[in-house]
Amino acid sequence: MCGIVGYVGFRSAVEFLVPGLKRMEYRGYDSAGVATLTGWGDFSLAKTVGRIDRLQERVIQESVTGTIGIGHTRWATHGPPTESNAHPHIGGNNLVLLAHNGVIENYQFWKERLASEGFDFQSATDTEVIAHLIARQWHRRADIDTSVDPHARALAAVQSAIAKLRGTYGLVVMFTELPDLIIVARLGSPIVIGVGDGEHFVASDPSPLVGHASKIVYLSDHQIALVTAENLRILHRDYGAIEPSVSALEIDSNDVELSGYPHYMLKEIFEQPESLENAMRGRLCEDNATAVFGGLNLSPQQLRHINRIILTACGTSFHAGLVAEYLIEEFARIPVEVEYASELRYRNPPVNQGTLLFAISQSGETADTLAALREMKRKGHPTLGICNVVGSTLAQEADGGVFLHAGPEIGVASTKAYTSQCITLSMLALYFGRLHHIGYDSGRRIIDAMHQLPDAVRTALKTNDEARRIAGKYCHAENLLYLGRQYNYPTALEGALKLKEISYIHAEGYPAAEMKHGPIALVDASTPSVFIMPQGSVYDKVMSNLEEIKARGGPVIAVVAEGDKRVRNLADDVIYIPHVDDFLQPIVSIVPLQLLAYHIAVLRGCDVDKPRNLAKSVTVE
Ligand code: G6P
Repeated sequence: MCGIVGYVGFRSAVEFLVPGLKRMEYRGYDSAGVATLTGWGDFSLAKTVGRIDRLQERVIQESVTGTIGIGHTRWATHGPPTESNAHPHIGGNNLVLLAHNGVIENYQFWKERLASEGFDFQSATDTEVIAHLIARQWHRRADIDTSVDPHARALAAVQSAIAKLRGTYGLVVMFTELPDLIIVARLGSPIVIGVGDGEHFVASDPSPLVGHASKIVYLSDHQIALVTAENLRILHRDYGAIEPSVSALEIDSNDVELSGYPHYMLKEIFEQPESLENAMRGRLCEDNATAVFGGLNLSPQQLRHINRIILTACGTSFHAGLVAEYLIEEFARIPVEVEYASELRYRNPPVNQGTLLFAISQSGETADTLAALREMKRKGHPTLGICNVVGSTLAQEADGGVFLHAGPEIGVASTKAYTSQCITLSMLALYFGRLHHIGYDSGRRIIDAMHQLPDAVRTALKTNDEARRIAGKYCHAENLLYLGRQYNYPTALEGALKLKEISYIHAEGYPAAEMKHGPIALVDASTPSVFIMPQGSVYDKVMSNLEEIKARGGPVIAVVAEGDKRVRNLADDVIYIPHVDDFLQPIVSIVPLQLLAYHIAVLRGCDVDKPRNLAKSVTVE
């Protein structure tokens, strides 16, 4: 949700800033801007409504130059997407330039106060308050001696301004009187710094750094960085100066380029066999017939005493939690609840000792998921995170966790991260199962089945042509139902979510049998139903539900296991997927539904990777 960038070094800053914003466009894409410093007291500013391509044109028109600069791509929270609301914002009398990711909750108070002190507001944003507040504090700290440290006054201004804010921020700040410095601050919104040779790069996530820097520093909450071309100083609010912890950048250009695909979403759907292999690599131990995890930070003895598990997440990650509910209960016989993080954070459920919280989040930055995690930590429960982004807030704050290793997911609609979450949770279910009820032989069988999964997904990807054909038939529908039972009920929810996110068609996922209690009223010749019904214990029951839809004239698309002959005569369209064990079905059966949603969206002319109103990483409540 909003992406910020910064550059200080020896090349033209916009050469990094604009492509960097383009790589982070998934975080927000309603307006954008860049600012550069061009000498003492001088700066250039270019802002546009709309996408980064338009910003690029504006940057050329306005000849934005300079070797130090900041930029922003916006997902509007306060004020509509207009040029005046776009970042960077100016504070004081052209003293401060600033871009912000996050939300300032007490901005109204400070806006009124600063306005009464004579500060002139140009926008409806919460961000402009920070820019003016920093300028105000700068003027109040004229006493600071800058003979030894020329940046001391700027640092003090930023420190005292952010101490007055309530909310979340990732900030990049420049002072026109200090044309060699970017100050970066973080509380609740991610920021990374790329370390180059005589240059530094700042971004909300590592993807813009690819091709520019091979070393990366993940900033943590309450840290401030003073960044110049040659130096990187980091200070913590409570501990003062700290040594930057520099690690290697682990992604490469193939992870962030389209590599010949028309959209990131399609590329990521096709990457799933590899992303599943990466999630499982080194984690399945045949000798002990269990899964192994390096970062749980809880001993098997401690985990054996867990008698209840709460899974919390938002969006697609919530659906992965629903899959895990079935799995963990079946394998480990531990009661599991899956809660929307936005609900859990404000609920006060009675939670016994022995309860473990899993927070599931691709980005590791979703505000509600983090808030739910913090609430459970406050109550003294152990917390584990499952996320894809190394260095994310979730990874930093959970007591332990598991990374998905799916590689960057850029399409706003989550695909490969979802299947990686499902397999990671399946491995955790195996691990918990082996601590309790699952014997050695069953453990081995589960591992064998998991090893076959990437190939099964490879085969499922061959449904692409069929999905495209079916998409052509139904792309003008106004409503679709997605129906499945047991392990495939979450698949129905996720299939419906995929379709509505990117094609703007109304779609509802339902437990197949439950559709009799309401949704069946929607069924007519123009409302297709997608049945997810690979073989399994409830196959016959779902078949009856399918017949009920057909009896009312509703078209049926059935996703079934290879070799299924019964469904052929009933369904209007059939998609065959490989047969796998029940517990792995969600990972295989979602593949044709991802493809169906993708092709329908393309045929309707939708912007698949950047659907309207959405953002990939929702860092506001
Ligand atoms: C947004 C995205 C969804 C995602 C959800 C949770 O709504 O558009 O695709 O599933 O956030 O994100 P997380 O990063 O926590 O998994």
